[in-house]
Amino acid sequence: MNILSVEHLTKVYGTGDTAVRALDDVSFTVDAGEFIAIIGSSGSGKSTLLHLMGGVDRPTSGTVKLQGQDIFERSDEQLAVFRRREVGLVYQFYNLIPVLDVVENMTLPVQMDGRSINQKRLGMLLRALGLTGREHYLPNQLSGGQQQRVAIGRALMNAPAVVLADEPTGNLDSKNSAEIMQLLRDSNRQLKQTLIVITHDEDIALMADRVIAIEDGRLARDERRR
Ligand SMILES: Nc1ncnc2c1ncn2[C@@H]1O[C@H](COP(=O)(O)OP(=O)(O)O)[C@@H](O)[C@H]1O
Ligand SMILES: [Mg+2]
Repeated sequence: MNILSVEHLTKVYGTGDTAVRALDDVSFTVDAGEFIAIIGSSGSGKSTLLHLMGGVDRPTSGTVKLQGQDIFERSDEQLAVFRRREVGLVYQFYNLIPVLDVVENMTLPVQMDGRSINQKRLGMLLRALGLTGREHYLPNQLSGGQQQRVAIGRALMNAPAVVLADEPTGNLDSKNSAEIMQLLRDSNRQLKQTLIVITHDEDIALMADRVIAIEDGRLARDERRR
């Protein structure tokens, strides 16, 4: 079942002589539950692609459809709600709020939506992420690996259909990196969640069902592994 379509997606930053065509007519479709690795050299347009799929930014032309609906038909306000509820975004640097504790960081998107916290899901995630007992720690009291677990918890709290991660293990050692990828992989399998991960790590690309390579803003390769 198709969950996501990227259609002729183009993004140009700036204008005139300084314009950068970061993404150039990229199209592909994603089936629900797929685990896709996006690879490509630095500056090739990977983060731009992920941001557009997550509704963080708007394209110059082309579009992204989630479950058949064009996400850019939404107003900026609706797009902010979309980002909190329908996709889970994970970055290389965890982007946690320093003055909020583990639980407050994890539940921030839910609180911003004015919704009540699903305590059962929160407890389940804290256990799965190995954060039980650290509920009230602040980010600076946690290791890098633990901080990334909190960021993943925040992304998974709403059980989004699609998780988008931009080099989520780029700042971690190989042991933490493997554990973080396993957590994302487990969630992908257990919830039949679609997982799209940008990575430089060969081992991660090997775990994926499919590898998409971006070069100079274009889709250079799209390879199904299984
Ligand atoms: N906000 C921005 N303003 C101007 N140029 C940008 C912006 N974001 C990215 N770029 C440029 O777009 C190109 C692709 O960047 P990016 O998507 O971040 O690549 P990658 O994630 O593959 O390293 C690069 O040339 C980069 O400098
Ligand atoms: Mg990038």
